[in-house]
Amino acid sequence: MTDVMNREALSRNEHMTFKANMGVGRHGWLRLTPAYGVRLVRERLASMPEGTIVTDPFSGTGTTPLAAAELGLIGQSVDVNPFLVWLGNVKTQNYDVSTPPLLVDAGAEALAFSRRSSEDDGLWQPSLFKIEKWWTPGALHTLRTLRSYIDKQDGEIRDLLDVAFCRTLIDVSAAAFNHQSMSFKAEAPTALFDMDDAERAREVFLREVASIAESAQFDLAGSATIKQGDSRTGVESLAKADIVLTSPPYCNRMSYIRELRPYMYWMRHLDVASDAGDLDWKAIGGTWGTATSKLNSWAAEHPTPVDKDMLPICEAIAADGAKNGPLLAAYVHKYHYDMWQHFQAITPQLKSGGVVSYIVGNSTFYGHEVPVHKWYAEMFRALGYEDVQIETIRKRNSNKALFEYDVTGRRP
Ligand SMILES: C[S@@+](CC[C@H](N)C(=O)[O-])C[C@H]1O[C@@H](n2cnc3c(N)ncnc32)[C@H](O)[C@@H]1O
Repeated sequence: MTDVMNREALSRNEHMTFKANMGVGRHGWLRLTPAYGVRLVRERLASMPEGTIVTDPFSGTGTTPLAAAELGLIGQSVDVNPFLVWLGNVKTQNYDVSTPPLLVDAGAEALAFSRRSSEDDGLWQPSLFKIEKWWTPGALHTLRTLRSYIDKQDGEIRDLLDVAFCRTLIDVSAAAFNHQSMSFKAEAPTALFDMDDAERAREVFLREVASIAESAQFDLAGSATIKQGDSRTGVESLAKADIVLTSPPYCNRMSYIRELRPYMYWMRHLDVASDAGDLDWKAIGGTWGTATSKLNSWAAEHPTPVDKDMLPICEAIAADGAKNGPLLAAYVHKYHYDMWQHFQAITPQLKSGGVVSYIVGNSTFYGHEVPVHKWYAEMFRALGYEDVQIETIRKRNSNKALFEYDVTGRRP
C-alpha cells in the first residue's frame, strides 16, 4: 500500500481523543477539547512494570499522570497553566473515605444557600468579556451564589466542589464544543431573570456533585504529582523518567487559555483580559491577545537542528500569507524553537534506555505543510536518540492533509 493509501485507510479514531475521556471516572471530570484519549495512554502504559516513572511535560487535564496512577505507576507532570496544575492534582488525589459523603452534604448545603439568596444577590462574578453571552441571568445568579458558598469551604471538599462548579458552569452556559475549539451556540441566552433557569443550574450542580463523589471513592494504585512550570526551562526537579508520554501543544494557534477562560475567570486565575495574553505568551504555541503583538517582534537567539528545512517553509508562508504571512511564519519558527528548547531540557530527565512518545499533529498554513512530526524526529536524532520512529495514528478531521502521529525514540 502506498503512503497515501495508508493514510486514507486510517479512520478518524475518535476513541483516541477527548471524547473517549468522557464518562470514565475521574478522566471525565473536566473537558479540554484537544485532550488526547485515555485509551491511547493506557495502551502505551499497560505493559510497564510497577514503579515505572511516567513524565508528561504538558499535563493539560492530567490524562497521562492519572492513567499512570490508575495503573499503579508513578506519574509526574508539568504545566504552565495554574488552573490545569490545580485540576491535575485534584484528579489524582486519593480521598479519605469520609470525603464523598461529606461532599454530598456540602453540595446540598450549597444548594440551600443558593435558593435562599435573593435574585439581587450583589455577589461577586468575574469580569469575563460579555458575560451575558455565556449565561442567562438565572444561571448566572446560581453560579454567583455557589461560588460564594464554595469560597467559604476549604481542603478536599472545596476542591471537589470546585470541580462540580466548573462542570456546572460549562453545562449551563451557551458554549458549544462541537468544533475543534469552543464557540457559542446559535441561540443567545435570554436576558430575563428566570427562576427555572436558576433552579436548572442548581440541579446540574447537584448531579455533578453526586457523580464526582462517586468517582472520588476509588483509590488510585499508584501516585501522581503535577507541578507548575515551563517545560522549556523548568523540568530539573523531575525524577528521571522511564517514559516521557505526552501530547504537546500543536502548531495550530490553538490557545488553551482561550479555551479554558470561563473556568479560569470563575476560579480567579484570570482577572483582566491582559492576564490572558501574558499567560498565553508563556505557553508554547500561544498567540492570544497581547501574545500576538509580542510574536511580531520576536527573533530567534539560537539555531535549531531543523532550520535547514523549516526556514524555507517559513519564508513561503510569509510570502503567501498576505498581511498575516510574516506573523504566521514567526509563529511556526518560534513553535519549533520552543520545542527544541524543551527537547534539550527534558532529555537529561530521561533514564538511559528510557523512551519518548510525543503524540502530535502536522499543520498547514496557506497550502504549505508544516511537518511537525518529521521535525520532532529530526530533533530527537540530533540529541542522540536511537530507533526514532513516526507512526501515523489517525486522520484529524475533514482536512485531508492533517494527521496525528506518535513520534518515538529511545535515549541511549
Ligand atoms: C495538548 S495540551 C495537553 C493535553 C493533555 N495531554 C490532556 O489530555 O489533557 C498541551 C498543554 O501544554 C501546556 N503548555 C504549553 N506550553 C507549556 C510550557 N512552556 N510548559 C509547560 N506546559 C505548557 C498547555 O497549558 C496545555 O495544557
